Amino acid sequence: SLTLRPRVPRSRAVSRVVVAQAGSGSYKVAILGAAGGIGQPLSLLAKMSPLVSALHLYDIANVEPVTADLSHCNTPAQVAGFTGKDALAGCLSGADVVVIPAGVPRKPGMTRDDLFSVNAGIVRDLVAAVADHAPGALVHVISNPVNSTVPIAAEVLKQKGAYDPRRLFGVTTLGVVRANAFVAARKGLPVAEVDVPVVGGHAAATILPLLSKARPKAAFTDEEVEELTARIRDAGTEVVEAKAGAGSATLSMAYAAARFLEASLRGLDGHDDVYECTYVQSQVVPELPFFACRVKLGRDGVEEVLGSELRGLTDYEARELEDLKPKLKASIDKGIAYVQQNQ
Ligand code: NAI
Repeated sequence: SLTLRPRVPRSRAVSRVVVAQAGSGSYKVAILGAAGGIGQPLSLLAKMSPLVSALHLYDIANVEPVTADLSHCNTPAQVAGFTGKDALAGCLSGADVVVIPAGVPRKPGMTRDDLFSVNAGIVRDLVAAVADHAPGALVHVISNPVNSTVPIAAEVLKQKGAYDPRRLFGVTTLGVVRANAFVAARKGLPVAEVDVPVVGGHAAATILPLLSKARPKAAFTDEEVEELTARIRDAGTEVVEAKAGAGSATLSMAYAAARFLEASLRGLDGHDDVYECTYVQSQVVPELPFFACRVKLGRDGVEEVLGSELRGLTDYEARELEDLKPKLKASIDKGIAYVQQNQ
């Protein structure tokens, strides 16, 4: 007999199942500060991601040539450029992830905190625009000093009624990338397999690599621990000095930011195995409202703040953790006070 209902082809039925699972989404990513030293290579790496369908580039200068150039790469992400404050709404509208590398970088002799006076205002204004035009987006803050710019972003989002702590991140991935590279080289391990948790904050002594928790398990002498910890902490300054006034890390930073972006997108996409160290609001160290540690990323951003790597620290690590607490607390308080005093 005739049936009026067309049979659903097997392949469609299967693809519908896939939609509900991981691995089928595509996302809109906005990069603010996209024409800068980090912004350009980061935009290129984002353009190469199969999870990105739209790539919106914003900068106060030079965005047009970057957009024209990048748009010729034959990958699916559609690239669009935006410049000038009035263009921010169009850039941000519908964004799933907003990455912020806008701001001035360090020159030799400067600490990350020396950037505060300029970058605090840039981050405040850009995050206010995110609250207005992309309130549900994940926000990745790269602009330094991250220890303070993330609390600034949180305060601005709170004032706008758009704060969801699961969606705000300080990008500390470069510390992990460096720790992995240096440990692999020192111990002769295959670099792709090395994973060192880096916790705390993202400046000088607030950066705490937990070498005792490195995977694969490796034995370090006390001297090695001190040497590697110092190198990981000072690696940014190594690059600043090599560039001799031309800025700070850009290529390794873009690589690290792209790794964190991909992790976030895989989380949004429903993958169940996405873990990264990142600077987020948490209670793992009660006196520090923001702290970098390992989190599980999921469909709404932070699914769980783990912090289990803080258990069973060596004496050295425990001492360094105690030592960084007041320094990180001061940077957090400075960020919060900035927003409260500059409304
Ligand atoms: P850069 O000077 O090369 O680029 C910054 C870009 O931001 C420029 O294109 C500039 O036009 C743009 N910009 C400035 N004000 C803006 C605004 N209001 N809106 C939109 N765009 C704006 O600097 P670079 O090397 O790309 O560094 C950017 C930031 O990233 C710095 O604050 C630096 O300290 C930080 N950084 C963070 C790291 C981390 O691990 N989280 C590592 C390295 C750098």
